[in-house]
Amino acid sequence: MVSVMLSNEGQELIFRNARSYSYWLDRPVDDGLLRQVYELTKMGPTSANMCPLRILFVKLREAKERLKPALDAGNVNKVMTAPVTAILGMDVRFYEKLPQLFPHADARSWFKDLPEPVLEYVALRNSSLQGAYFMLAARSLGLDCGPMSGFNNAKVDAAFFAGTTIKSNFLCALGYGDASKLYPRSPRLTFEETCQII
Ligand SMILES: Cc1cc2nc3c(=O)[nH]c(=O)nc-3n(C[C@H](O)[C@H](O)[C@H](O)COP(=O)(O)O)c2cc1C
Repeated sequence: MVSVMLSNEGQELIFRNARSYSYWLDRPVDDGLLRQVYELTKMGPTSANMCPLRILFVKLREAKERLKPALDAGNVNKVMTAPVTAILGMDVRFYEKLPQLFPHADARSWFKDLPEPVLEYVALRNSSLQGAYFMLAARSLGLDCGPMSGFNNAKVDAAFFAGTTIKSNFLCALGYGDASKLYPRSPRLTFEETCQII
């Protein structure tokens, strides 16, 4: 039984005070911290423990320049000024790692002959969940996030994942956000608008 819960301060950090950032302070993010973000991210649950998420951390100027032509105009500055932008991708042949990841059953056989659109659907669902774990992990370590889907997936895939079975899902800039440039928080739906208990 779980007998502890996250402190109010922790909840503020991950949820209530966490925002989506577009502007970044001039403060670097070291590679060790990116590793820590992954070490937390990987613990979140996925179907049959398939873990389809693959992450490319774009940090160097040259790598950012490769990403730039795929970005919607409104996202160019956000990526070019962020210390790091993670390309959150998904391996659509995720089932090849199931003998390692789900060793107590032949889970590979459940997926390997499924049609491509079904594999993509499964990979998208599970890598999107992992993308959410990734943002919560980053925030729990004091980083800020700037998630983005405003980009051309085919261009990103050609530039970074050619010849692989990985496809891009979404981007997430990481760093220390400039809170002075935030818009006021937009409203959220209430419990009554969203939920039913039956
Ligand atoms: C999957 C995803 C895609 C998004 N795409 C973009 C984007 O392309 N450009 C952008 O400026 N913001 C983008 N956003 C940011 C959202 O607009 C933002 O998270 C939302 O308005 C809530 O803002 P808040 O976190 O500051 O409350 C995206 C967010 C998510 C989760």
